[in-house]
Amino acid sequence: MAPDLTTRLGRVELRSPLIAASGTVGSVWEWADVADVGPYGAAVAKSVAPVEWPGRSAPRLAPTGAGMLNGIGIQNPGITAWIEMMEPWLPRLAVPVWGSAVGETADEFAVVAKGLVSAGVPVVEINLSCPNLEDGRMFSLDVGRSRDVVAAVRSAVEVPIGAKLSPNTDDILGVAGACLDAGAEFLTLTNTALGFGVDVKARRPLLSGGVGGYSGPGLKPLSLRCVHEVSRAFPGSPIIGCGGITTGTDVLEYLLAGASAVALGTVHLAEPKAGRRIRREMLRDMEKMGVSGVAELIGGASR
Ligand SMILES: Cc1cc2nc3c(=O)[nH]c(=O)nc-3n(C[C@H](O)[C@H](O)[C@H](O)COP(=O)(O)O)c2cc1C
Repeated sequence: MAPDLTTRLGRVELRSPLIAASGTVGSVWEWADVADVGPYGAAVAKSVAPVEWPGRSAPRLAPTGAGMLNGIGIQNPGITAWIEMMEPWLPRLAVPVWGSAVGETADEFAVVAKGLVSAGVPVVEINLSCPNLEDGRMFSLDVGRSRDVVAAVRSAVEVPIGAKLSPNTDDILGVAGACLDAGAEFLTLTNTALGFGVDVKARRPLLSGGVGGYSGPGLKPLSLRCVHEVSRAFPGSPIIGCGGITTGTDVLEYLLAGASAVALGTVHLAEPKAGRRIRREMLRDMEKMGVSGVAELIGGASR
């Protein structure tokens, strides 16, 4: 019998541990047109704010060694336009589509979360890797601010919510614990790491915004460290591992480190159908290892 790929994140049941990461599959429906969504348990739409964010000017994407830099500036149409665009699509897609909320204050996150739920998303991921209004630092670098955002979203919606954290904090356990205390039902570990690159010929930064988000294979050990430490400190708290996954073996690594599911990001930019290959590789690895299902792997290397 083929290994059982079903898994759970608290109240959320997934047919597969593979999730399409926010921002790397657009609004999901464009991607679903070209990719096979069957291998995925969920797909997270691009983060959305209360009002339109224009994003940064070009260049906003740049390849760099083992991965890439992005400095999109979370361009999005704002929640009202998002609802109009997405509501008709959500029931038609063959994969559950989760919403992703951003804002500049805790109240703004709550407004967006309400809007996402009114459009029909079954789960809200809170993207704490965006700058707050007061000093422009990322929410997820601050324990108190992260707690306030999650608490505001928790009181605004009843659907399952999760918090997506940055690998750049020196206190991942403090931030993770605050989010769980405030009502996050799962944690996504992690978003991109801060990075910088130089266009040598032009003698200027690769990205218009200078510092951006680094993603791809080089991120994997950094995100895995977060998964490992958080899963040991908060046993039983569901984790989505995210960062640098390109193969089925990478997925098993995250599961063994303590994740219950994983999100695939940058790999989609070069290979929109990556889920199909990664699912096949994962099943092959599990069969070789004589593993009966995902549940048997979770945390196996981090106890
Ligand atoms: C072009 C691009 C846009 C992204 N936009 C978002 C976003 O809107 N919201 C979010 O939570 N993460 C966003 N991310 C981060 C990814 O969801 C993911 O956490 C990160 O890229 C690490 O995974 P990876 O190494 O598999 O790409 C973006 C990443 C990229 C490359």
